[in-house]
Amino acid sequence: MIVRRLLAVLIAGASLGAAPAPAPNPETDRVAFQSYFFTKFPNVKHEEFGNGPYAVNAPMRKQWEEIMQFPPYEPALDEGREAFEAPFANGRHYSDCFDNGGDGIRQTYPRFDTKTGEIITLDGAINACRVSNGEKPLPLQTGVMASITAFMSESSRGKPFDIKIPADPRALAAYERGKEFFYARKGQLGFACASCHVQGAGERLRGDILAPALGILAAFPIYRSDWGAMGTIDRRFTSCSAQTRAVPLPAQAAAYREVEYFLSYMSNGIPITGPGTRP
Ligand code: HEC
Repeated sequence: MIVRRLLAVLIAGASLGAAPAPAPNPETDRVAFQSYFFTKFPNVKHEEFGNGPYAVNAPMRKQWEEIMQFPPYEPALDEGREAFEAPFANGRHYSDCFDNGGDGIRQTYPRFDTKTGEIITLDGAINACRVSNGEKPLPLQTGVMASITAFMSESSRGKPFDIKIPADPRALAAYERGKEFFYARKGQLGFACASCHVQGAGERLRGDILAPALGILAAFPIYRSDWGAMGTIDRRFTSCSAQTRAVPLPAQAAAYREVEYFLSYMSNGIPITGPGTRP
């Protein structure tokens, strides 16, 4: 039933952007991507796209405004600040690993790393910082990792995504792979990420309102009531893979880092709102 409803939405939306046009460059893609959402949701202010489902659904927004009187991510923010400020065993700090001591930089991740030719996410950079200081990497889906990224995101609130694709063919290739992953149909149900978050954006799926892909990462990490906990981008990506009955990839798999790079670049100009909360 739900599937049939979504398929109807899909078919209806097919002519509007199911197949990505051949892309001369990411900036052309970004303009087309954003104007699709601005046209689909003409009454939503552009900066509101960082608020996910609340931007496009009035009853959910009302519920959210009530929840936000006591934001459920507050304990994570406190834990994140403490963890971020605590020295490693060698006396160095997270702040030694990041531009501007890690303050107000979340909107610049993921980045293309010219040394390795790989995409590095904020979560990946946090673990790389730990490892280079002789510490074990943190688990990637929840817990302290979500708390540290919550703390770092909060210092970027209001700063628009500012993702760079440097003039390096490997960076463009990583972007293109991320884009392909986003539009490719996967899993037993044959859904692409785009089926739900582009064509289906704003529609109801079970108890959820599908977040528009524009600005979809701005609120991370998020507290979700149905998780009863915080979750990172990896946690959300693996749950969404499961939604399509595709086998989830390991956290920080290249394909997840690349789709994060693609989605974040598409959101350039949309302000960071994280950490967020979802019902
Ligand atoms: C079958 C539909 C479906 C597909 C396909 C799907 N998702 Fe989702 N996704 C959801 C649902 C349901 C939620 C929770 C409600 C919401 O926030 O959109 C969600 C949430 C998200 C969120 C968090 C949005 C927020 O504001 O909390 C991200 C990010 C996301 N999905 C990314 C992806 C990516 C990347 C893919 C492809 C690998 C994907 N999704 C595929 C259904 C889907």
